[in-house]
Amino acid sequence: MVNMKNIADDFPILAQKINGHRFVYLDSAATSMRPNYVLDRIDAFYKSSAANPHRGLYALAERATAAYEDARATVARFVGADADEVIFTRNASESLNLIMYCYARRNLARGDSVVIPISEHHSNLVPWQVAALATGAELRYMYIDKETCSIPDSEIERKIDKTTKIVAFAHVSNVLGSRFPVEKLVARARRVGAVTVLDAAQSVPHFHVDFHALGVDFAAFSAHKMYGPMGVGVLYGRRELLEKMPPFLFGGDMIEYVREQDADFAAPPHKFEAGTQNAGGAVGLAAAVKYIESLGWDNIESRETALMRRLMSGLAEQKRVSVIGSPDPAAERYGVVSFNIDGVHSHDAATILDSFGIAIRAGAHCAHPLLDYLGVKNGCRASLGVYNTERDIDRLLECIPLVRRKLGYGD
Ligand code: ALA
Repeated sequence: MVNMKNIADDFPILAQKINGHRFVYLDSAATSMRPNYVLDRIDAFYKSSAANPHRGLYALAERATAAYEDARATVARFVGADADEVIFTRNASESLNLIMYCYARRNLARGDSVVIPISEHHSNLVPWQVAALATGAELRYMYIDKETCSIPDSEIERKIDKTTKIVAFAHVSNVLGSRFPVEKLVARARRVGAVTVLDAAQSVPHFHVDFHALGVDFAAFSAHKMYGPMGVGVLYGRRELLEKMPPFLFGGDMIEYVREQDADFAAPPHKFEAGTQNAGGAVGLAAAVKYIESLGWDNIESRETALMRRLMSGLAEQKRVSVIGSPDPAAERYGVVSFNIDGVHSHDAATILDSFGIAIRAGAHCAHPLLDYLGVKNGCRASLGVYNTERDIDRLLECIPLVRRKLGYGD
């Protein structure tokens, strides 16, 4: 039985003091920290196997190739995909850009539409703006219900219509923490013949995600938000789609044969992996998968749900705090809550909380259209990882009132 209360001991970065205080890290939605298990596997790869994968016939190169391809197989199994449907990229943004350049720009035309929720963060929004501008297609928004933060069925039915070629959406909102109804969106998209793009960056660290079972056509996520290293992301694509798409970047390792004037390209996934890849990063991502699996989804989910309820109940009791989105402590929420403190800019709040050793995110959370829609200029965001404890939540709750006091307010 895993003792979820001692998980922080696995993460060396959390042992340090910040500004003289115990470090309370509450910004895992921006990037999670990495356990020794992941750091040690990356270190071991560089110390024992780090030749260039796919290129050498000597022992070290074979080892590097095996480590890289084993990492792909591990990641594929983790997200319910086949290994040749998993492409390593730099991050979720690059994965989404790849879909935009290699699929959207070739399949969209004037009269078509791309449909996304208003709550998308910029990585899953700006690429669709660029695709729409380049092709003359319309970028159309599904507006969420401001109380429940869900997408009303009527919006799904009305906005996704016969003109729709792409429906892109986050699994979990990076601002609201709410989970979107993938099954409904996929079913509606299929009915009109559109492909679906799932941004799973905020879901894969919090619950089991299975791309085949969900039936999405494309998906993207990043290693660094799920206890893996920075600089590695994943693009999942249905094999038939990947086979029809042109390469994204051109160069070594993505070709079958090159003649003077043209070239034949490799099959997916290698077609989309030009140049020397971040093999150490892929190894680190696979280690992160194994680390998550060693904790177990039931343990992770029940722990994070309990902590989130404690945080939401505590915020509900604070007179001067307003939650962005649903304030209901019982509402389904995955790892994220955004809020404002009356009369305090979120940047000031984050700076003052940092002086108490607490790291939160402040600002617009890469989601300007959502904040504009909600009529909020910016906000504080606290987000959870497996290492957080009741003590962390209580420390944040006890320091929030001190923010106003530090700024000279009476209460
Ligand atoms: N999208 C990341 C976040 O929400 C960077 O913080």
